[in-house]
Amino acid sequence: MNGPNPELMCLIGAEQVRETEASISPFDRGYLFADGIYEVIAILDGKLIDAERHWARLQRSCAEIDLPLPMPIEELKQAILGLVETNNVTEGRVYFQVTRGVAERDFAFPDDPQPQLFAFTRQVPVADTASSRKGIKAITVEDLRWKRRDIKSIALLPQTMAKQAAKKAGAGEAIMVEDGLITEGSSSTIHMIKDDVLVTRMLTREVLPGVTRATVFDVAREQGIEIQERAFSVEEALAADELFLTSASALVQGIVELDGHTIADGKVGVMTDRLRELYIEVGLKA
Ligand code: PDD
Repeated sequence: MNGPNPELMCLIGAEQVRETEASISPFDRGYLFADGIYEVIAILDGKLIDAERHWARLQRSCAEIDLPLPMPIEELKQAILGLVETNNVTEGRVYFQVTRGVAERDFAFPDDPQPQLFAFTRQVPVADTASSRKGIKAITVEDLRWKRRDIKSIALLPQTMAKQAAKKAGAGEAIMVEDGLITEGSSSTIHMIKDDVLVTRMLTREVLPGVTRATVFDVAREQGIEIQERAFSVEEALAADELFLTSASALVQGIVELDGHTIADGKVGVMTDRLRELYIEVGLKA
């Protein structure tokens, strides 16, 4: 798939428009300042996975940057659900973003913002992929981002650079590092299993509060798995029993190589596999 698809609809505001016919003004502050917030939700069996947590995070991110929603949240939800239905997405994802809309180019916010919604869907395999079966390679890169990474901002240049570095190295994810400690992946939360304990960085302004992370924690607790929320180093990750990432795009995915070093036996770990299975099961049931 490459860019706009004439067979699919997207949302511009509450309106469904053919992707190839959709347009947004270049004066939109999303285009000029990356002044906006986004979300990605996985779709399995035509169902939005972890939707409540994604809606809640959207509202929180918007509130943190004083960005009003373009419509009441219930209408926004219905518009997104309607788009998924129109495009007949059974498995894949929906992307949506809210920007501060068209205004004269002025750094300060407009007094009468006209926030804009854009959303599109993609039908892609999510539940069963080669990466989820075999695991992926990752590299480490310096975390070059701003100091409010808890906000899901559309300003993603450091993450695009990180992902490009991973691609160049033949890896699937770039793990960002600050002061010797892992913050998170360029588009994922990073976790390790050491001595049967699930270790994940604590939630501060340094990382995005991952929705998949939260649900994986619920699942892990139900399984009686001990969770430690603390920062860990690259050295610890290299010596982990299992290393994995979570995100709405990849769900739960094993990392079997980091910076050219094999993690454990080089296979996706048993607990990673189990958490992935349970995550999908819980998501479909909710
Ligand atoms: N990325 N950390 C970062 C920096 C992310 O961009 C993401 C998600 C996550 C995981 O969050 P969640 O489990 O809520 O998806 C963590 C999305 C999928 C993306 O940018 O495509």
